[in-house]
Amino acid sequence: MSEHTVATVSELEDGDRKLIEIEGREIALFRLDGEFRAYTNWCIHQGGPACEGSITGTSDAEFDRDELQTELQWSKEGEVLNCPWHGWEYDIPTGDCLSKEGAKLPSHPVRVEDGDVVVSL
Ligand code: FES
Repeated sequence: MSEHTVATVSELEDGDRKLIEIEGREIALFRLDGEFRAYTNWCIHQGGPACEGSITGTSDAEFDRDELQTELQWSKEGEVLNCPWHGWEYDIPTGDCLSKEGAKLPSHPVRVEDGDVVVSL
């Protein structure tokens, strides 16, 4: 495993992201609620640049099978990444794919040391 200093803590505000290349691999560093996460910029659907997509929220659906009604509620504002190719959604805090249960963005350990953000591959 190799470690790479990719940013300073003060370089990114909450909600920011930074795209970087490490060992020929595109990585996206996200800052959300003061925490950093790093994911490979690769969508599990068809390999699109998922981490370059818009950051939004998502619609949660509740189904009433007796009444045959659907209720939609907007949630996770600022925490959902939308792949620019076909719109698959990913939860930024966990990397979970919201469009395909059980799938995730490839993630990488991140730590902060002396004001620097260090990603391990
Ligand atoms: S490649 Fe990302 S949604 Fe299709």
